[in-house]
Amino acid sequence: MKVTIVGAGAVGASCAEYVAIKNFASEVVLLDIKEGYAEGKAMDLMQTATLNGFDTKITGSTNDYSKTANSDIAVITSGIPRKPGMTREELIGINAGIVKEVSANLIKHSPEVTIIVVSNPMDTMTYLVHKTTGLPKNKIIGMGGALDSARFKYRLSEALECPPSDVDGMVIGGHSDTGMVPLTRLATRNSVPVTAFLSEDRLNQVAEDTKVGGATLTKLLGTSAWYAPGAAVSGLVQAIACDQKKMFPCSALLEGEYGLNDLCIGVPAILGKDGLEKIVEIQLDDAEKAKMKESAEGVKKTNGLLDV
Ligand code: NAI
Repeated sequence: MKVTIVGAGAVGASCAEYVAIKNFASEVVLLDIKEGYAEGKAMDLMQTATLNGFDTKITGSTNDYSKTANSDIAVITSGIPRKPGMTREELIGINAGIVKEVSANLIKHSPEVTIIVVSNPMDTMTYLVHKTTGLPKNKIIGMGGALDSARFKYRLSEALECPPSDVDGMVIGGHSDTGMVPLTRLATRNSVPVTAFLSEDRLNQVAEDTKVGGATLTKLLGTSAWYAPGAAVSGLVQAIACDQKKMFPCSALLEGEYGLNDLCIGVPAILGKDGLEKIVEIQLDDAEKAKMKESAEGVKKTNGLLDV
């Protein structure tokens, strides 16, 4: 199993580290445009192999896509991250050009690859890859909801004063401060609805804190986060590589599901060896449907800025 990660920056390198530590891939190729950068990150990570006990071979390359040939899975983390006060949508001008070029280069050397798009604005970048590559729709997946859901569960566990592993919950919708739809109604603590423990006001606060989860970290760090994003991407990579049939909210191309068409947005999906194997349609209530519709309108507005 060969995994390529294009963009050896904060999120790309974090993803490479988690993939290696989980020890399911034979090879990880890190590629970056910055001279020597990916080689340096790869060497640093390889020097953790004996410390962390993994056998994955990690190599680096400065923009030489022949090194990525025959990748099974490729992750796109190349592009600029946001700075404090910026929205993800403001990154579109620079990142659209990068994502378009990177995905074309990847497919030239790995025609069968499954691509996971991370670069922001992620839903629009995922749509761009669909529009420009001609890959089948199951082979293009955007990562946002897995991260947003992890942040939701963290915030719920804080409110519930319980371990995060006792909590389950999901965020669907667009991966933006205004587009996320945390499904508070369906969240549970050890199978018990969290509505049994938390007031509506407290749950609304959890939802709001979740939606600005990325912005909160960007303010603290001066740039966007990388540990949770890297871990979230590695979960998607593992689900596909190991044919786990696990469900994550992913940005998927919708063709009528959830009453939506011609956009990529976060919905629950089963991931396995064929990539995004199935979109799961859950029954939303009227308020959730309205939020999803509004979220889709926001994503479509950003898609309108693309030159495709
Ligand atoms: P970073 O700046 O640390 O790394 C980006 C890397 O991409 C840099 O090393 C840069 O040299 C490289 N790069 C730029 N153009 C390239 C090209 N044409 N080919 C190859 N490499 C190229 O940024 P970070 O923090 O790793 O974030 C990466 C992207 O992921 C950003 O767009 C960020 O907004 C996004 N992101 C998305 C998340 C999500 O949930 N979807 C979560 C966190 C970040």
